[in-house]
Amino acid sequence: MASKRAASKRAAAKRVSVLGLGLMGRAIVEGMLASGHPRRALVGSTRTREGAARLARELGIAVSTDSGEVAAGADVVLFALKPPKTLEVARELGRAAALRPATLAVSIAAGVTTGQLEEALGGRVPVVRAMPNTPCSIRRGTTVLSAGARAGAAHLRTARALFEPLGRVVELEEKHMDTVTGLSASGPAFVYVILEALADGGVARGLPRQTALEMAAQMVYGAAAMVLETGRHPASLKDDVTTPAGCTIAGILALEDGKIRSVLSRAVEIAAVRAGELGGPR
Ligand SMILES: NC(=O)c1ccc[n+]([C@@H]2O[C@H](COP(=O)([O-])OP(=O)(O)OC[C@H]3O[C@@H](n4cnc5c(N)ncnc54)[C@H](OP(=O)(O)O)[C@@H]3O)[C@@H](O)[C@H]2O)c1
Repeated sequence: MASKRAASKRAAAKRVSVLGLGLMGRAIVEGMLASGHPRRALVGSTRTREGAARLARELGIAVSTDSGEVAAGADVVLFALKPPKTLEVARELGRAAALRPATLAVSIAAGVTTGQLEEALGGRVPVVRAMPNTPCSIRRGTTVLSAGARAGAAHLRTARALFEPLGRVVELEEKHMDTVTGLSASGPAFVYVILEALADGGVARGLPRQTALEMAAQMVYGAAAMVLETGRHPASLKDDVTTPAGCTIAGILALEDGKIRSVLSRAVEIAAVRAGELGGPR
């Protein structure tokens, strides 16, 4: 029965073309393959012939340097290129009318709006904008989806199926996408800085570096799971840990002296503003 279901899933699989197989494009392809997407229904593109040969070998899918060839005949074309490259390649595809009108275009480019991509593609195809993050590469990511003007519920379902193997998927209005980029896509880097600093504190007190780092990472992982799994507010969880006249409240006062709340909030805010500039003039 299960193998019958897997066979019908393989038969129904959409033909997906991934343009750009860098950090994110590759993570998405690997997630799709791990979730049972058939290799023959996946193709990719990259910039150089050497890269194409290497990626084809490593991923076991066809990889070309010709975006038009890769996009033709696809049910879904996923743009995993840098933002300026996304619009450049989309314009080339639009001029050549390379995408069938039924093809769904999905873009993960920071700062590139669905409107910009629709226009670049010649106004003929539906577009969904997606914002994943690097934990998608270990299937613990978050991806936010927004539908463009020509995309409907079925298109969002198709996009959701691409990203669900990589972690959580959330649908939001496009006006939130730059903020999501500053929080969810840039956020892992903010947390890495915090983790390094926490480990430094342990090292300053004599812990071996590796022990301190693993302890800090596991602690942040556990604390994040407490918020997600209990649904409790972080302030209430913090109150549980702070015994009157104890060590934790003493540490929290040091964080407050360093303006940790406004520093972190401003980091998200400024990253979101910068994200909005990456796709050029809107
Ligand atoms: N990294 C993140 O945390 C993150 C999170 C969310 C969204 N994003 C978005 O994801 C997109 C890709 O980011 P990334 O981090 O994966 O970048 P990346 O690692 O630099 O990947 C981009 C890939 O595109 C290839 N490429 C360049 N020109 C091409 C062309 N004409 N045709 C096909 N492939 C081409 C590049 O090859 P070469 O290296 O040979 O030039 C590179 O492998 C960006 O728009 C970014 O905003 C990134």
